[in-house]
Amino acid sequence: MQKLVSVVTKDEIAKGISEVAREISSDYADGEVVLIGVLKGAFIFLSDLARLISIPVFIDFIRVSSYNGGEQSSGKITVTQDIEMDIKDKDVIIVEDILDTGITLSFLVDHLKSFQPKSVKTCALINKTERRETNAQADYWCHLIEKGFLVGYGLDYAERYRDLPEIYCLK
Ligand code: IMP
Ligand code: MG
Repeated sequence: MQKLVSVVTKDEIAKGISEVAREISSDYADGEVVLIGVLKGAFIFLSDLARLISIPVFIDFIRVSSYNGGEQSSGKITVTQDIEMDIKDKDVIIVEDILDTGITLSFLVDHLKSFQPKSVKTCALINKTERRETNAQADYWCHLIEKGFLVGYGLDYAERYRDLPEIYCLK
């Protein structure tokens, strides 16, 4: 039987997101940003973040497959649904649920740069440090967590638990 241990509470999630939203709003003051959510994990984070950013935002999504439904990354990323918006000369922020090995985010930064945006930054709800394999970085992140497999608030294990309002570690 899998056990869920609370790691980030509702209040902590809300606080982390409002701080990052404030930072983004001030870094791009007088501008506008395209938020590109990485499906499916980032859908709840993106919807809360977008509503707290005070400058105009545009929203698009991209979908990649890498995890094959388990805990282990396959290391091979493919785009299964690409962006639809024209991001040429736009300020883009990739919105990810979790930065783990960094393989996904490195791939996505390179992929999106091929559309010639003005800039590409990265934003992750969780910055998980233990298994980092690339020099991928989150320019913005809400919670630094060393290790553990996390679920809830969009994050899944084999498609379960995305609907939980808080973040838990799966034991
Ligand atoms: P990376 O390429 O190893 O950085 O992995 C990034 C992707 O792996 C994230 O977008 C998640 O979908 C998934 N992932 C990594 N760690 C976890 C976790 O603890 N819980 C759920 N998904 C995770
Ligand atoms: Mg993901």
